[in-house]
Order: sequence, then structure tokens, then C-alpha cells
Amino acid sequence: MKKTIFMDYQSTTPVDKRVLDAMAPYFTEVYGNPSSRNHQFGWEAEDAVKASRETVATAIGAKESEIIFTSGATESNNLAIFGVAEMYREKGNHIITCATEHNAVLDPCETLEKRGYKVTRLIPQADGIIDLSDLEKAITSETILVSIMYVNNEIGVIQPIAEIGKICRARGVLFHTDATQAVGKIPVCVEKDSIDLLSMSSHKFYGPKGVGALYVRRRNPRVRLSPLVHGGGQERGMRSGTLNVPGIVGMAKALELCLQEMPEETVRLNNLRNRFETQVMGALDYCFINGNRDRRIAGNTNISFAYVEGEGLMMAMPEIAVSSGSACTSSSLEPSHVLKALGVKDELAHSSIRFGFGRFSTEEEVDFAASKVVLAVKRLRELSPLYEMVMEGIDLSTVKWTDHH
Ligand SMILES: Cc1ncc(COP(=O)(O)O)c(C=O)c1O
Repeated sequence: MKKTIFMDYQSTTPVDKRVLDAMAPYFTEVYGNPSSRNHQFGWEAEDAVKASRETVATAIGAKESEIIFTSGATESNNLAIFGVAEMYREKGNHIITCATEHNAVLDPCETLEKRGYKVTRLIPQADGIIDLSDLEKAITSETILVSIMYVNNEIGVIQPIAEIGKICRARGVLFHTDATQAVGKIPVCVEKDSIDLLSMSSHKFYGPKGVGALYVRRRNPRVRLSPLVHGGGQERGMRSGTLNVPGIVGMAKALELCLQEMPEETVRLNNLRNRFETQVMGALDYCFINGNRDRRIAGNTNISFAYVEGEGLMMAMPEIAVSSGSACTSSSLEPSHVLKALGVKDELAHSSIRFGFGRFSTEEEVDFAASKVVLAVKRLRELSPLYEMVMEGIDLSTVKWTDHH
């Protein structure tokens, strides 16, 4: 096996060939602008967008008119958070989120904080799941929005979304969820879960990059948003700009395929992930799986390899494409903010790797990758004086290191 094995399915996914086939005519044949109301070209494009909107809406239990197409989850999150903050400023200035959110949620919240809003960042339990009583206690009469992600992009844990939705509904607070890592992988229903706003991104479920959606509830309650992008008034005025027709068609096709294949695919990915964990954890000591092991999506595992440095480990196994921390921040040497929020110590957080399994992962790849990981960790530990001391039975926490400063 010569080529690099892709085990970074949380960062992105390849476009499925069936998706590409569905998109192709919308580049060259049906190329009209769906806003052109006066001719056949516009009508055909509009029909395609309408059908896609219906598919996306149905996939999450929503109505067609509640889907706003965007450029991806980053934009959807920004639109939800800034849009609510500005529109409901009179009602209150408090937002609740979680310390383990993606930066596409944390950064907008931080920006709002600089503009005078109050932000509460819930610290999850050690398994990555938030404590619902913490949420209950954090809500005040000033709270206008709760933004809690559906599935975490680093450790894969699934938050108790239906319970969060119920609490928010009872307290009259809008509930946004960044469902980027959930949609297409586990069943999502905005009605059942009492979700008011939901973000998704096509390239995380075998659709094209640069297209996503924001679900905006229209009834019970009707959510209003201030737009970020002003112009031609597309997407009910919430997101102006000519629609990305091929992208939207691709996203809908990709989601349709995910839903069709979800039951079997979940079982298959669970088996692959378990197979990988069994091989790695069985062959190595001092390894820890991060996050709740029962309440997580199938295609993800995040493992800390004590006494090994994550960046070094990745370099020692160039045959597998993985990431430490999330893809967008993996260029920085800061340990993952997600693992830190779980209470994982810096050294251990630095030794953590996320492994992703997806549609094109095979048993052969998993076995190969597991053997490479085991080999690389063993080699690096042979070079680690700390690991050697631990092997000799020394408790590192009791060691008095000489200070040369
Ligand atoms: C949980 C989560 N939210 C948001 C994003 C951003 O998505 P996009 O890059 O499509 O805007 C990602 C992707 O890394 C993600 O995993």
C-alpha cells in the first residue's frame, strides 16, 4: 500500500462520484441564475434549488422555507450568532455556549463580548458532555441564545441535544446547534430536538466544499435574524448573493445518500473504529481514549499516547493522514482547547491524535494504520527518558527536577 491513508474524515471528505455526477449538468447546461424570473434558464435553476432545499429540509425534519443556503458552517454559525445578537439586542445581551465548541462559534462569541455582550462558556464534564444543570443555572432573564454543538469535531461526543432544546424552549431562549459533525452521520430532527437554528456544511458529508446551510425556525417560535451579507435579497433577505446552484444540488444529493446508507454505514464504521481501538490499545500501555465512549459518533476516536509528542508521532507515520487538535488550528502549537476543557493535562493533550473513519475506509487500511501507530509509538517511547523512568517504576509526579535557571 503506497499511497497515504486518509483518516481525517472530520476535517473534510472527498466528493462522492454520485454527487459529482448529479452536479455536473449545473455547471454547463443548467447554468441560469435562480433569481432570473423571466426566462427558462432561471426557472430551471430555480427548480433545482427548490428540489435541493426540500431534500435538505426533509433530512432534518424542517420545512423548505426554513433553509438558508450559505458558504458553509463557518458562515452559518456567524449568521446565527451575530444575526440573533443584533436582532434581539433589546431583549437581552447574554449568550451561553460551551468551551469545547469549534472556533467558528467561539470567535463570533468573543467578538460579541468585545462589543459589550456577556458570554458564558460552559465547561463540560470530563467526558466532554455538558451538565444540564449547569445550563439551567446559567440562563438568566438577559439570555437570548444558547449555542451548543451537536457532535464535537475532535472527540466525537454527542451532546444531549433534545434535553438542551427542551430547557431552552421552556425558558424562552433561542437554541442554535452547530451540527456540522452530526448531519449525515446520525439522525437529526429539529422538531424532536426543539432546535431553532442549525448549522451544517456539505464537505463534511461527501458533498462539495464552499456550500452549507443554516436552518432558521419559522414557527413556534419564529426566529428573526439580522443579515451579515446585504444585497439582492436572496434567501429571504437573510443571505444575499447569487446562489451556488451546482454546490446546492451536490449538497442535497450528498445528504440524500448519507441518509439512505446511514443504518449500515454506522454499523460498518463502528466496527472499523472498534477494530482500530482494540489493536492499538491492546498493543500499547499508557494510552487513553478521550471523551465519552458510549455517546459518540461511529467514525471517530481521539487517543492520547502518553510520553509521545503528537506532532512527532504524526511525522513518524507519514503513511497516515490524521490530525492533532482540529484541522483549522493544527498549525498552532497550543494544545487542543477541547481536551484542555475536559481537564486533560497539557502534556497529554499534546500527545493526542484524532483518527477518522469514513465511507472509503477499509479493514485493510485500519489494520495497516493500527500497526503503523503501534510501531511509531513504541519507537518514540524507546527514545523517551520519561517513559524509561516510568518503566523503572518511578512516579514522575514525585520527581524533583533540577532547575537550571
Ligand atoms: C464543528 C464544526 N463547526 C464548523 C466547522 C467549519 O466548517 P466550514 O469549514 O465548512 O465552514 C467545522 C469544520 O471544521 C466543524 O467541524
